[in-house]
Amino acid sequence: MWATTPVERIGLDRVLMTDGPVGVRDPEARDSSAMLPAPSALSATWDVVLARRVGALFAAEARRHDVDMVLAPQVNLQRTPVGGRHFECYSEDPHLTAEIAVALVVAAQQRGVGMCVKHYVANDSETDRTRYLARVDERTLREAYLAPFERLVRAGAWSVMGAYSGIDGGGATAPALEHRPLLTGVLKDEWGFDGLVVSDWVATGSVAAAVRGGLDLQMPGPDGPWGDGLLAAVHADVVAESELDDKVRRLLRLAHRVGRLRLPDDGTTAGTRVDTPRTAEDSSALLRELVARSTVVLKDDAGLVPFAAAPLRVALLGAHAVEPFFQGGGSSFVVPDRLSYPADALRETLLAGSVVDVVAGSRVLRNPPELDLTRCTDPVTGEPGLRVELLDADGRVRRARTRTSWDGWAHDVGPHDVTLRLRARVRLDEPGTHELGVGTVGVHRVTVDGRLVSAGDVVAREDVILASGHNHPIAATTLVEGAVEGAVEGVLLEADLQVVHPVGYDRFVRGLLVHRLPGPSADDELAVAAAAASAADVAVVVVGTTHEVESEGFDRTGLALPGNQDELVRRVLAANPRTVVVVNAGAPVVLPWYDDAPAVLWGWLPGQEAGTALADVLTGATEPSGRLPWTLPAREADVPVPHAVPADGVVDYAEGLDVGYRAWERPGAPAPAAPFGHGLGWTTWEYEGATLTGAPEGARQDVELRVTVRNTGPRPGREVVQVYVEPGAEVAAADPARPVRWLGGFAVADAAPGETVTATVRVPARALETWDVAAGAWTTPPGAYRLRAGRSVRDLRLDVELVRRTEI
Ligand code: BGC
Repeated sequence: MWATTPVERIGLDRVLMTDGPVGVRDPEARDSSAMLPAPSALSATWDVVLARRVGALFAAEARRHDVDMVLAPQVNLQRTPVGGRHFECYSEDPHLTAEIAVALVVAAQQRGVGMCVKHYVANDSETDRTRYLARVDERTLREAYLAPFERLVRAGAWSVMGAYSGIDGGGATAPALEHRPLLTGVLKDEWGFDGLVVSDWVATGSVAAAVRGGLDLQMPGPDGPWGDGLLAAVHADVVAESELDDKVRRLLRLAHRVGRLRLPDDGTTAGTRVDTPRTAEDSSALLRELVARSTVVLKDDAGLVPFAAAPLRVALLGAHAVEPFFQGGGSSFVVPDRLSYPADALRETLLAGSVVDVVAGSRVLRNPPELDLTRCTDPVTGEPGLRVELLDADGRVRRARTRTSWDGWAHDVGPHDVTLRLRARVRLDEPGTHELGVGTVGVHRVTVDGRLVSAGDVVAREDVILASGHNHPIAATTLVEGAVEGAVEGVLLEADLQVVHPVGYDRFVRGLLVHRLPGPSADDELAVAAAAASAADVAVVVVGTTHEVESEGFDRTGLALPGNQDELVRRVLAANPRTVVVVNAGAPVVLPWYDDAPAVLWGWLPGQEAGTALADVLTGATEPSGRLPWTLPAREADVPVPHAVPADGVVDYAEGLDVGYRAWERPGAPAPAAPFGHGLGWTTWEYEGATLTGAPEGARQDVELRVTVRNTGPRPGREVVQVYVEPGAEVAAADPARPVRWLGGFAVADAAPGETVTATVRVPARALETWDVAAGAWTTPPGAYRLRAGRSVRDLRLDVELVRRTEI
């Protein structure tokens, strides 16, 4: 699943890989890991120094788990806000994506740990993800989607992962792993990539076409077309052995780089392995700082953040305040070293005498809570617990056990096990209506007291894994009256569930048991939250997405917050105007109450330091200096690319270069709720002046804009100085496809109250260039450009003109 094959004879050890990008998951699933915030939180800091520190953390975590290469970062662009893996990506913008990713990858690799940059290329959405063709014109590919990969390759990335999807563009129409013009022509020949092209997991669909396309390593293996199939193809002269030499060399080079190739002369290990000492406290402190720094103050009209330094009664409200959405769904998941919760952290951080009242108030999940096994009895033995039986193809019980704990998964299944049978008498002694059921994938039959609840005969295979269907099965349920005859002794829940054996993955059975007790209505719960708000000095409502809606494997079907969270916010705002709303989501959600809320913070998918970081932000220990790396829409109907549903198998990138915020900047486009680059921090800034250096006319070189800013507020603060490039009227008229403005560079600057500091923003020559399709080359259209410095793409404070003549 995660390792290459060792070849003892030549001193080649296995090279062990694992996922990223939310941490370094233990490939053997034995140990926990530091759980980072989702990558878009890192890019929201716009801070390459912090990104380097996170790269070092990746290296340390990889060492701790004996991992040689991490399958991260993900540098696909946030083309549509509904994209399922939006949270795993950095930004709508290729330059911001590249700057953050390069800093991280270089820092990790300097410590001898490989990073595998994914998913090459134009793999920006999840619907039908293994099959669609992304139709992207060549210029857009070059200027937008290939751009981060190019920067990473030129910065020395050791590996690139090829995508599941296909590409209609860039000189061919082919699955990504067979796309010779892009994999071999552009990546290897033109950019000089000397690393290893790894397939996405079970993405390889051919032998000869992928060999010729430029794939170097099929993962996982040896199952799949490159197992016996590749050997057979060589023996049959369909693939020449010499075609594999370059691939072998690349694999050896990677092994050497990560210290897994012992040289024959002295038996020592080559490569750049260095020890990266790290303690759990170190990573915890770094992540706490990162998450607080990444938090974006979208608005704070009444100056509620940070809280006044006095003992306070705080109402902490929302299902996410009780159980934050720590990490998004899919392959990036890690088992965290620790989890910090907002209530605990706030109680620790607030001044003595403060009180924190915690009320969930909202309902956010479609599935009822998990069934508590203490109300279950094995119907055969009468012992407390759940009866678990494994049956073979003939329906014979091969193994049976009574379990007193059940996490919804069975992994300990053998090759002859075909069905898992779960049986329990479930005691329902509370009066009222109970909801009881099972969530699974594949062939199944679920009954309660013999009554059919759900049945299915579609066999689940690897497609289920690739669509993440196994992670979030929506349970089929039935309603049962409690406290009546029979129910008190226990209703009989029985479920026959398919053993899934996906190619390339381990066997498993999914059997999520759910049960909702009779209880207060949703409306009653909202009322309790509102009452807590009105009794408090300040209310904090945490709202967000869930693993049911934000995950790898599928795209979202809308941008609304799940459940009744909008209603919760409305009720709390009505109860207490001193309300701070914190959004716990990776990708944009529409906030219909945005104008009415005095303070709104974007808190990302924060990882293990969810609580400590939020407490630091609210109490003023750390400035929330994040800036949006994407656009927050005001209304769903305004979104330029509202979905990525393939039409006849094709996802058409018809918006061309107008990716993300660039479409929002077109004249006539609606205003977003918050634009790209927006974030207030907790102080105010005056932009005093900008000077340009290194801009001789006609020279194709980077320029520097020195931007002087003054902290005009009462607190020390961090500004993210952003520089946007705008083509002058003449240049724009000659090239209407060119965006109105785009990010040219950025820098962070820290200043004390009243202090003036100068941020040096490097704008690379490439920022002005376009891809000339006919010439197959980069070119700078001559004429005047404006470099505009400011606080977001819509808050531009200073202008400097830059003229480029015909290149010399
Ligand atoms: C994902 C990759 C991941 C791989 C291994 C795939 O389904 O697309 O990003 O690295 O699985 O878990």
